[in-house]
This record gives sequence, C-alpha cells and structure tokens, in this order.
Amino acid sequence: MAAIRAPLGLLAELTHRCPLACPYCSNPLALEDRAGELDTATWARVFGEAAELGVLQTHLSGGEPLSRRDILDITAAAHDAGLYTNLITSAIGLDAARVAALRGAGLDHVQISLQDTLPASADIIAGYDGAHARKIAAANAVREAGMALTINAVIHRANIERLEQMVDIAASLGAGRVEVAHAQYYGWALRNRAALMPTRAQVDVAMATLARLRESYDGRLVIDAVVPDYYARYPKPCMGGWAARSLNVTPSGRALPCHAAETIPGLDFWNVRDHSLRDIWVNSPAFNAFRGTDWMQEPCRSCDRRETDFGGCRCQALAIAGDARATDPACSLSPLHERLLEIAEGDAQTAEIRYAYRGRRESIPAE
Ligand code: SF4
Ligand code: FES
Repeated sequence: MAAIRAPLGLLAELTHRCPLACPYCSNPLALEDRAGELDTATWARVFGEAAELGVLQTHLSGGEPLSRRDILDITAAAHDAGLYTNLITSAIGLDAARVAALRGAGLDHVQISLQDTLPASADIIAGYDGAHARKIAAANAVREAGMALTINAVIHRANIERLEQMVDIAASLGAGRVEVAHAQYYGWALRNRAALMPTRAQVDVAMATLARLRESYDGRLVIDAVVPDYYARYPKPCMGGWAARSLNVTPSGRALPCHAAETIPGLDFWNVRDHSLRDIWVNSPAFNAFRGTDWMQEPCRSCDRRETDFGGCRCQALAIAGDARATDPACSLSPLHERLLEIAEGDAQTAEIRYAYRGRRESIPAE
C-alpha cells in the first residue's frame, strides 16, 4: 500500500444545473438531479472535514455554482472552515452586486471560462446567446471589486487559431492567470470529439504560440496549459496521481478521485452522507484502487517515468484500451498509441463541426 498523503484540493460540484451547453463539458452524460443535491449543512460539514484532513483550497464548481440559491451560505461555510475559495463559473448571472455579496461571504478568487474571442463563435460554443458579452462584463466586475481572476480558455478546433487573442483578452481583463486547456476527451467532449479535435499541424502551431506568449507575458500573466495529449509523446499526470492530491464531491455527495471516475466499472464510490471525508480518502476502495504504483501493468510497471506521470489517465485508458489498468494510450510506449493517433487524425479531418449538446440544462441561475 502506498503512503497516503493529505489532499490539497477539493472540487465541490455543487450542482449539475447550468445555463450553458459547452460541447466539451466534463460532467457525466447522465447529469444528477436538483432533488438529489447535498444541502447547505452537509456542504458545511464536508468543508470542515476537508480542512481537518489537510485540504487548503476548494473549487466551488458545477455545472454552474451560481444556480444554487444558497451559494452565499456555501461560500461562507467554506471560508469559515479556513479554505481558500475559488468560484468556477460561466459568469451568467454574475453582476457587480453578486460579486460584492460573494466577496462579503469570503470568496477569494473567481475563474471565468471564455469560449472564444469572437462573440458569435463564443455564443455558439456556449450554446447561449449573449454569453460572451456577459462574461466580459462579469470579468470586469470581478476586477473592479479587487478580486483575483483566472480566465479559463478551453481550446479546440473551432477556436485554436485564436489562442493568442484568448491570452491577450485575459491580460486585458486584468487576469492574473490564464488556463489554456486543450479539450480533454471525457464525458461530453468524448461524444463531441470529432467536432473538437484539432489537426496535428494546428496543435504544433498552438504549442509554439504558447511558448512565445509565455516569454512575452513573463512576470505579468501566469499561463498554465493542459496539453492535447492525443498528440503527445507522454501522457499527462492525471490528477497528479490517483487519490494523491485532490478529490471531487458530486452534487449528490459521491466522492470521486477524478471527474470521470464513475465511467470505470466495478468501483464503489462512498458518499459523504455516510462517511467522513477522512474515512473516504484513506479507506474507500475506489480511492485505493489505483493509488501508488502496485496496480500497474507493463510497460508502466518497470518504466522510469511511473512516479512522474503515474501511467497517465485511468479513465482514458478505460475509454480507449477498455482497461483502466492499462498504460494510457496517450503514451508513445503504449501498444495502442498509434491507434490513438489514427483516431485523432481521423476526427480532425471531419469536415463539419456539429455539436451534440448536453441533454438537460436550466437557463436561469438562482437569484
Ligand atoms: Fe508513463 Fe507508463 Fe508511458 Fe512510462 S509507460 S511514460 S509510466 S504512461
Ligand atoms: Fe480519471 Fe484521468 S480523468 S484518472
């Protein structure tokens, strides 16, 4: 059994309700109902247990966390537990008054997603007319309130040519950090992969652009990147290792080692309604399933990089190789790597961009 370190981050998925319909949404295809969502008191207990366990930061996420009518109480509970609080939001419904109220409740940081720099394209990707203008207004309100801002830009075939403008717009909005995240193919993104996948040539240009932007913005804007791993040589160290650094709690209270873990059959996810967060983190079979390196097969088992990338992503191994214990096919040492490249290059040639949108959403965030 691997030594168990304390987690640093908690992703609190407060609801799956959301006004947007982004085609790369990482939420599961079967969204959880409002009726099953954890109540305020349970979230408050979970935040207290998280802080006691060693968590430093919580991401209030969704869906759209502003859809929760008790978002101020939830934010205050996380703050009172001593956690650094980050709101991950579409920004629909986030006006200056709401920013002020959230700040008063103890919110430390806001992360707003931008879908593109061209408003018409951004609104199509978001599935919401006028979304882009509202996001820009909300980002300005956050900065005018003196709060820290991160812009999240998910990159895919419809916007990859404007990666530089995305970073420029983040800087012009006063963000301290921009997250340039190439779409990761889970959940709705896997379903929409043929419409989202860029070509290798586009990715090569994007990576060179990113390197240049990092130099020119050095000291002014932190540029984090999630690489497009279908074209990579080595996989991403997904979640910093399974059950190693952070955990997710779903709207109904299931604790997950990663956002796509429920796609892996045979794992039993304990619920925060029945177990403390410490009990889940230390003893839950799902959290121990891929902890450390004992579970690995070859070539990971004897690879020098096994403590660097942890064999890549279990959910991607399952999705592509059909085995969550397999080497992530994004790794060039995987026997399935060539197949993954063929899939990527085939998808990138799909002429028409047509998104299968999410099945259910709510248009009006709670007041
Ligand atoms: Fe990482 Fe496994 Fe590939 Fe080695 S073989 S680089 S541990 S994914
Ligand atoms: Fe589940 Fe990577 S998304 S391990």
